Amino acid sequence: MSLPILKIGVFDSGLGGLTVLKSLFEKAPQNQYFYLGDTARLPYGSKSPKVLRKYIDQNVQFLLTKKVDAIVVACNSASSVIENLNEFPVPVFDVIKPSARAAVTTSLEERIGIIATRTTISQKTYVKAIQSLNPLISVFQQACPLLVPLVEEAWLEDPITNLVLYRYLSALLQAQVDTLILGCTHYPLLLPAIRKVVGPDINIISSANCVVDEVLLHFKLPINNEKLDAKIELYLTDASPSLDTIYPKIFFSPAPQPELIYL
Ligand code: DGL
Repeated sequence: MSLPILKIGVFDSGLGGLTVLKSLFEKAPQNQYFYLGDTARLPYGSKSPKVLRKYIDQNVQFLLTKKVDAIVVACNSASSVIENLNEFPVPVFDVIKPSARAAVTTSLEERIGIIATRTTISQKTYVKAIQSLNPLISVFQQACPLLVPLVEEAWLEDPITNLVLYRYLSALLQAQVDTLILGCTHYPLLLPAIRKVVGPDINIISSANCVVDEVLLHFKLPINNEKLDAKIELYLTDASPSLDTIYPKIFFSPAPQPELIYL
């Protein structure tokens, strides 16, 4: 039986959301993907909810011009300021609720740490989502504003990045979390470096992976393991000097030529 081919829009402030696109492509390679990286206005994680809301609406409007069937907000900072996912004309999926659910299921000690941008942390969206599932869970948050610029610079395994990670993660290690949520879609690119700092025993939940099952469930799609060529259109709002370094780390293939757009 041939699977329906959906058009899925995905957006983030920059290249981090490619980690979400990868997870979508791995489980549903038949679909056509439209990726928008708002590189002109990056970072999102230092912006106020009001400003982010304007960006979200513009990004959604742009993706709707591609006649998408659904939109994945591949950005925790943007997800943290969307109050009602049902207000859009197509199904919209955020990355926070699925990751919170995965962390609650995983954490046996009921001690969850979250690293994310300042906006995501100050909105407390993860804390609320986790404690609505289990109010007994202790949640420890750490804002990591320096990590997104390091990823966008492609300093993924660099002594400076390691030092910054060590500094950000030490409070969570002291709090003895057993589960760590990478609450920013840029952070999976730092996974090897993060693993080195936290050691082998802490469960790491990537907000880039968890949303995919939600999308499949919504459209009643099975996981598709076929090896297909990626149908990805890439749109950026400004040139990104790191695209050619970061894209192959995620997709093992050269980046498609991005189209620059102005929102
Ligand atoms: N990757 C985004 C997130 O998940 C945004 C990072 C940023 O632009 O600050 O929060």
